[in-house]
Formats: sequence, C-alpha cells, structure tokens
Amino acid sequence: MDIDLVDQDFYWRNGAPHDQLAWLRANAPVYAHPGDAERGWPGFWAVTKHADVVQVSRRSDLFSSSRKLALFNEMPEDQMALQRMMMLNQDPPDHTRRRSLVNRGFTPRMMGALEGHIRDICHELVDEAKGRGSVDFVRDIAAPLPLYVICELLGAPVEDRDKIFNWSNQMIGAEDPDYAADPDEGTNAAAEVYAYANTLAAERRAQPREDIVTKLIMPDAAGETLTEEEFDLFVLLLVVAGNETTRNAASGGMLAFFEHPEQWRRLVADRALARTAADEIVRWVAPVNLFRRTATTDTTIGGQEVKENDKIVVFYSSANRDEEVFADPGVFDIGRDPNPHIGFGGGGAHFCLGNHLAKLELRVLFEVLAERLPGLEQAGEARRLRSNFINGIKDLPVSVA
Ligand code: HEM
Repeated sequence: MDIDLVDQDFYWRNGAPHDQLAWLRANAPVYAHPGDAERGWPGFWAVTKHADVVQVSRRSDLFSSSRKLALFNEMPEDQMALQRMMMLNQDPPDHTRRRSLVNRGFTPRMMGALEGHIRDICHELVDEAKGRGSVDFVRDIAAPLPLYVICELLGAPVEDRDKIFNWSNQMIGAEDPDYAADPDEGTNAAAEVYAYANTLAAERRAQPREDIVTKLIMPDAAGETLTEEEFDLFVLLLVVAGNETTRNAASGGMLAFFEHPEQWRRLVADRALARTAADEIVRWVAPVNLFRRTATTDTTIGGQEVKENDKIVVFYSSANRDEEVFADPGVFDIGRDPNPHIGFGGGGAHFCLGNHLAKLELRVLFEVLAERLPGLEQAGEARRLRSNFINGIKDLPVSVA
C-alpha cells in the first residue's frame, strides 16, 4: 500500500487517511515512515495501535516530549524558543511542577460550575442562527462556543474575542492558505498572544478577580507559583489547545451526525445520550490527529526496536479505531459505552488538561441543538483544514429552518 501520513493536501481533501492507518494497524503497527528530503521532513516511527500509543504516552522517561520539538520538520532554533518553554513540550520533573499549578484551575468541580454559562452561550448562538435561517456551523456555532469560554476563563473582554479568534486560526492554520499567508504568520501570532497574556496577567496582579486567571497567578497552598513567563506561556497554550480542538470536535461531530442521520434522530429522541455522544465524537473525529515524542534510549514499542533519538509519532485517529479495542470501530454510535478512546491523549503526564471542559461543552452544545434545532440540515459541502496535525473543518453550511 502507498503510505504517506504527512501529506497536508491529502488531509485537506479527505480528512485522516483511515484506509492507510487500518492497513498499518494490521500489517505494520510500528511503521518506519520515510522522510521527505525535499520538504525537510526526517523519517519517523508511525505508531498506530491503541496499546502502543498508550505505552508511548505513559512512559515519559522513554519517550520524551522535550527533545526534537517539531512534529515532522525540524524548525529553526529561533522559532523553537517559545515552543521549548511550553509545558506541552517539557518532561517531568519540569513539567510536573507547572502541571500541578495549573491543575488547580481545571478541576471537574470548577469546570462543572461553568455549565450554566456554557448553556447560555449555546442558547444565544442558536437564537442568532434561528434568526438567520442558514448559517455556517463552524463560524457561527462551533468556533464561537470554545472561544467565548476561553475568553471567560481568561477574563478577556468581549471586544478582544475577534483578535483572539484570528490569532488562534493563524497559529493552527499556519499551513492553510485561508488562515495564514505563510507559516511565519503562525509564529508572529504566537508572539502577539504571548504579549497579550502578559498584559492580562499584569492587570490581574494589580486587581485580582474571582476568575481562573487570578487563581493561577496566586501562590498555591505550598506557596508555589507560576512565574510571569510560565503564566504567559500557559495562556498561549490555552488559546491554541482550548479553541481549535473543541471547535473541530463540534463541527466534526455535526458532520458525523449529517452522515449518520439515524444517530441524530436517536439524540433528538433521547437527549440524555449527549453524554456518551460527546465521547463518541472525540473518538470519531480525533480532533488532534497525532503527537510526537522522541526515544530517550534504545527500546521497543510493540516488539519493534527503536533507537535513542528516533522520532515517534502516535496517531490518535488510528488508535481510536483499533479493532482490538472497539467493537465495530468504523460505526459512529453515540451510545457507545464504555468508550476507551484516547482522543485526549493516551494518559500519562500530558493527558489533556481541558478534557472535562471540552466534554462539557460538547455535551451541552448537542443537548441544546437537539432540543432547539432538531431539523438541522447540511446545506453545502464541508471544507477541511489543510493540516496533518488537527483534523479540522473550516466551513459547514447548515440550514436551521
Ligand atoms: C493536551 C486533545 C480540548 C488544554 C492535549 C493533548 C491532546 C489533547 C491529544 C496531548 C496529550 C498528550 O500529549 O499526551 C484535546 C481535544 C480537545 C481538547 C481532542 C477537545 C475535544 C482542550 C481544552 C483545553 C485543553 C478545552 C483547555 C481549556 C490542553 C492543555 C494540554 C492539552 C493545556 C497540555 C497538557 C500538558 O502538557 O500537560 N489535548 N484537547 N484541551 N490540552 Fe487538550
């Protein structure tokens, strides 16, 4: 089989290469993927089975997040400076200290307290959509929801929403001509978010509020605190990690319902299914397609020997359809329970900090949509994001009449 798991244009046209991934799971679950000298991509090990992705994710000692940062291509050192300082790109023990400081703001209880606010936002977005008759599901519903929630978490004023929206698009859409004229725009946007976070933190230090941002800049019970730089970097990470992922889960979930109308009818008939639907959407869409690690020593993955410094790329989109873990993995089933998907990561140190929040947003959104827009219909072609990292959708025209 012709295997190319990197080709941005393939993802742009078709989404994740599920046929190739299924073939790899069956025939070469830890596959020596060739590099592409012309584009400057070195080769890597493509890890496609659920159990192997979990092993790589949980063993930070064997599979580092801090060595060789770029996903496929090797970035110039100056562009890596910001990346290197982010929690996502660190290993224990550096990572552990930061993670425990930010965990304070993201407990299930704190996220649960946002439910009423999230529901209000969903109703507001539906009211606006109903008034217009036909809308773009991505621009008018899936994108604003996480954006407004992140702004709320950050205490960012309403007038800054557009600015944050554009930054987030430029960072994640650096390879998509609709979002960024060239990849440097992504780097510039990151620098602007970083500066913005700095201003925001300075305001909260001067005038503490009852919000999550203020909580995160205050010392914890042991007197530990995030440095100014660590806080700014965390905001940068939140803007990227909390926006695009949830947006693409919501729009990919909506598309899945259009492609499986019987599942939509099921949800409309029983809105309590929105809870398991949220997990099934994350399994099905795998908004984060992959992540990379680097082997810290000679070791094995699923019986395959890998060498120190080898690049390891784990494919969540593949693990989430592993036939050994999921019955009928190619079926979108909103009642699937249990659902041991690893769309939020395979466990271990970096497991998604926002998983409770993302699931809450998805559950409430689909409850409200099923209640108020049961006749929602697709009204045009979905256009995908040009990215091999985020399984994203840019446009999804819908009719709400
Ligand atoms: C990390 C997926 C929503 C914040 C991650 C990772 C994945 C992921 C795959 C990396 C796990 C690893 O390397 O082991 C998703 C998906 C989401 C989502 C699919 C939505 C459906 C969110 C939200 C937030 C968030 C809403 C914040 C408000 C983070 C942060 C990290 C992270 C801060 C880095 C954690 C660390 O390095 O310790 N997410 N995420 N995510 N996510 Fe999410």
